[in-house]
Amino acid sequence: MNTKILNPNNNDDIELSGKIIKNGGLVAIPTETVYGLAANALNPESVKNIYKVKGRPSDNPLIVHISNINQLAPLVSEIPEMATKLAEKFWPGPLTIILPKSHIIPKETSGGLDTVAVRLPASETARKIITASGCPIAAPSANLSGKPSPTTFDHIYSDLNGKVEGIVKGESCAIGVESTVITLVTKVPKILRPGGITKEQLEEVLGTVEVDKAVTGELENKEDASSPGMKYKHYSPKSKIIIADMSLSDYVKLVNESENFGALCFEGEEKFLNKPYVTYGKAYDGASQGQKLFEALYELDRKNIKQAYARCPQQNGVGLAVYNRLIRSAGFDFIKSDVSVIGLTGTTGAGKTTVSSMFRSLGVSVIDCDEITKDENIYKGKCLLKLKETFGEDIVKDNKLDRKLLGKRAFSSKEKTEQLNKITLPVIKEEINRRIDILKQQGNSIIIIDAPTLFEAKAEDICCKIITVNAPLEIRRERIMKRDNLSLEDANLRINAQLSESFFLSHSDFVIENTNDEITILNRVKEIITEVK
Ligand code: TXA
Ligand code: MG
Repeated sequence: MNTKILNPNNNDDIELSGKIIKNGGLVAIPTETVYGLAANALNPESVKNIYKVKGRPSDNPLIVHISNINQLAPLVSEIPEMATKLAEKFWPGPLTIILPKSHIIPKETSGGLDTVAVRLPASETARKIITASGCPIAAPSANLSGKPSPTTFDHIYSDLNGKVEGIVKGESCAIGVESTVITLVTKVPKILRPGGITKEQLEEVLGTVEVDKAVTGELENKEDASSPGMKYKHYSPKSKIIIADMSLSDYVKLVNESENFGALCFEGEEKFLNKPYVTYGKAYDGASQGQKLFEALYELDRKNIKQAYARCPQQNGVGLAVYNRLIRSAGFDFIKSDVSVIGLTGTTGAGKTTVSSMFRSLGVSVIDCDEITKDENIYKGKCLLKLKETFGEDIVKDNKLDRKLLGKRAFSSKEKTEQLNKITLPVIKEEINRRIDILKQQGNSIIIIDAPTLFEAKAEDICCKIITVNAPLEIRRERIMKRDNLSLEDANLRINAQLSESFFLSHSDFVIENTNDEITILNRVKEIITEVK
């Protein structure tokens, strides 16, 4: 077959793509998520061809793409209110909604299920092609079954050239991971596949949303899959991937001391590594990881990296989608450190102390960085001199540091706080590391670092997981006013001098809401210990 390479900026090519699809052919098209292999969703023969070209198991249903909300009603037997709300908020966009199907959806498209998955993509090219075809379009990701999904033209060209009527040569896909699939046929809406629209965003519209257990783990019984796609081997490059669920510092050691392993790391981390590497987005930034993940998997093969240790993404925001794809690329293969060092942090007044004493009461060792900060012995010599130089001679009286005065001056602005951190954090970090070594030697398997300035100290690099303790702003403010006898103004100054609440939330693996219900908090603490173990 002679495959036409079509230009999305040329109207004739858009019309031609639509015509080929309408007449039963296959065209690979770009969308904002990944490239799709498009066919007329209502034509069983065309749909069968999709399965054939992809080598896809026929019980794995396809997503039906529309370009206008009016195309939804004929495809489904009902449109619940929740679907309308989701469509209003997230369409066009990377969200697929599962609803009971109407009789016009052939069983080939729905994989024999009585539901149908529908999506209205944000990509203008995709929408133009759907409109030009005059029919709803079935479009799975355009990869051969089992391979990583394609996010650039180059990824699909060699796989599909000669096998399909056309390939639309678009730009790289902006989101890079497939759409979020949510089903509304369960009692509580449930995410079957995480993607570009996050659980947090969905909950804002729907209230509670569940996440299918297949999203973050391997199903014991594959036949239990709510979404057939979750039971197959998926997203695998030729390169063997093992996820290194550990701190950056342990990861660097692991990679550098390994034989024949490359790295799949975050941007900027390569400077610590002496092995071949590919990066996939920035640490703590699920959206950038999502954008680069599949490209990076292809890149591993291109660089002929036969085995790679991958950095483990966090499971918040789009990170959940990244985690979901990466664990499948790795065939659920993980490696962990013997000792888990966990950072416990949060904004001032969030109630970290309560949480850390709960960890202690459960037998977990906690390094209290506040206590280290208050330890006069660590600021000897050069450090003390610099403090005096920066914050005034009078902060030291009779050889004693006036911490209250220092605090008043240092926490009065972000700039001053940064100056303080620059002087004191290196000595604090040295002391933390010394204490970690001692606790490791004593045989602890979990060590908590309780540190309000975890990120400023760059101590997150020695943590395998990060817990943020959080509470609403009014509660935090009230707590610190009472605790430290501060005026409203001073309390606000202190809160504003810190990293923001949203920074903490986007940088943590676990969030503990500390709103005073001790039993709930204790249960969450126990849950986290179990999960880390
Ligand atoms: O972003 C995307 O959604 C891309 C682009 C091309 O639009 N498409 C895509 O399609 O990822 P595909 O076929 O690779 O993935 C569809 C997923 C599969 O995991 C499938 O099992 C699930 O959606 N799915 C489809 N219909 C379903 C249904 N009725 N019930 C449960 N899961 C369904
Ligand atoms: Mg796919």
